[in-house]
Amino acid sequence: MRILTGIKPTGIPHLGNYFGAIKPAVELQEKGDAFYFIADYHSMTSLFDPKLRLDYTMGVALDFLACGLDPKKSVFFKQSDVPEVTELAWIIGTMAPMGLLERAHAYKDALAKGRAPTYGLFAYPVLMAADILLYDANIVPVGRDQKQHVEITRDFASKFNQTYGETFIIPEPDIRDESAAISGLDGQKMSKSYGNTIEIFGDEKTIRKKIMGIVMDSRASAEPKPDAEKNLAIQLLKLVAPANVGKEFEEKLRAGGLGYGDLKKALFEHYWNYFADARKKRAELAANLDYVNKVLADGAAKARTLAQIVLKRARKNCGLE
Ligand code: TRP
Repeated sequence: MRILTGIKPTGIPHLGNYFGAIKPAVELQEKGDAFYFIADYHSMTSLFDPKLRLDYTMGVALDFLACGLDPKKSVFFKQSDVPEVTELAWIIGTMAPMGLLERAHAYKDALAKGRAPTYGLFAYPVLMAADILLYDANIVPVGRDQKQHVEITRDFASKFNQTYGETFIIPEPDIRDESAAISGLDGQKMSKSYGNTIEIFGDEKTIRKKIMGIVMDSRASAEPKPDAEKNLAIQLLKLVAPANVGKEFEEKLRAGGLGYGDLKKALFEHYWNYFADARKKRAELAANLDYVNKVLADGAAKARTLAQIVLKRARKNCGLE
């Protein structure tokens, strides 16, 4: 069973990304043949700073490796290191109905916001379909916002198969709902666009300040709080502290006697410890970029071997060779 997903290098990862994407990806590498790539071609539809693209791309590589992605278990590579994907995107594009692309949400959102969409944004789902079909992926773990793209991929793949004979595996989306459940500093869903994130690898002072600044209600600490499970610091604590510790704090808050300041201090400590090993590993990797580049190059070589086989199959079936 091949599991494949792409990570767009467009920002600094936060707890929502960690629990919604990175941690599940690391766990999934035990369950199948995992292909994970950094979608740098896709980042070009929204990020126009070349240096930032390279920095974010390396950032994603460091984050995933630091958080436990094991290059012996997974094939980890940069999308643009396998240029076969752009040829397949052309081939698949000839099967892509305009109406479907016009309904794809990234394009629709750009129109709704009054932006002048580019061809790249319009063709985003075609390139994404090529990413998935090029590696015979069976399962595509994505957030809810990407479900439509996987459905579009299935549509293109069946059209191609009907027109030119069995060529592509029809992939299944594996929708992760977990990310929706992670609240940011203001209680809304944690997201960069709301400015309410806690970064995984933020510096100590900044994160401490963010956590200590979480706004709580004005009830006195002695007061019992029957709604303790709804407290934002409790919810975050449960993610980063051992289960019994999270439960204990919740019960203390419920009973009364636990001050919000102490609760937030505990949250910071547990957050800091939770990522201690990953932080150390990330610093080591950042000091050894040759190794990281080698991991990506080896990953690309493996991915490319498979990509060439699948591309040849497609080229043959549609009469390019
Ligand atoms: N579009 C995805 C996102 O924004 C990233 C992505 C690119 C992807 N290619 C993919 C995800 C292929 C899964 C499979 O998150």
